[in-house]
Amino acid sequence: MVFWKRHQGPSGGVFHIPSRLAGVSCGMLTFPDMRRIAKGMILLCLGTFSLAACSGKHEGAARYRTNCGICHHNGEGMKGEIPPLIGRIDLIASSAEGRHYLADVLLNGLNGPLDIRGVHYNFSMPSFRTRLSDHEIASILTYLAARGDSPTPPVFTADEIAAVRAHPLPTSAVAEERRRLDQIHRLP
Ligand code: HEC
Repeated sequence: MVFWKRHQGPSGGVFHIPSRLAGVSCGMLTFPDMRRIAKGMILLCLGTFSLAACSGKHEGAARYRTNCGICHHNGEGMKGEIPPLIGRIDLIASSAEGRHYLADVLLNGLNGPLDIRGVHYNFSMPSFRTRLSDHEIASILTYLAARGDSPTPPVFTADEIAAVRAHPLPTSAVAEERRRLDQIHRLP
């Protein structure tokens, strides 16, 4: 603060440095120095921001591996037993009803039967209501959606998961929700 005050120009502008000082290095900051510092700060902010975005993705992947991978494997499932997820979550999430359904599956579980790409499935998926937070569920679904072919994959938020969490459903109702969804937006 002392520095800025001492170098206020006649106009009183905080960043105004008298021209005789500009470009002169005498242990004080010159305009080019300040521009370099400002640039550095902007780059630092951008770096921190992309790191945060990366760690968001990374969290979804890690949570998927520990909670879902045991059944759904790397997302390809197991023919006739566990449905595939990759290349399907982004498509299902392309409608508001589809996003709601996906949140319901994770929060309440699902009990088929289902037919997916000509293959019949009839097992049950456990509920993750007490095991995963809204934020964790959002990160897993965002991660799975990003692994599809959609150029701008859907992103899930903790708030939308919280809104769905507020209305618990029995697994049979989730299966019914799936049937209704399939009628309005054909499931992949
Ligand atoms: C114990 C095994 C198991 C685990 C763990 C599991 N699932 Fe499932 N999941 C299933 C089964 C089985 C089905 C199909 C249920 C049926 O046949 O009714 C399913 C169905 C689904 C569906 C619905 C697919 C569709 O086409 O409607 C989604 C989405 C899903 N799982 C995501 C996940 C995610 C994300 C996780 C981790 C948080 C997870 N599952 C963990 C077994 C599991």
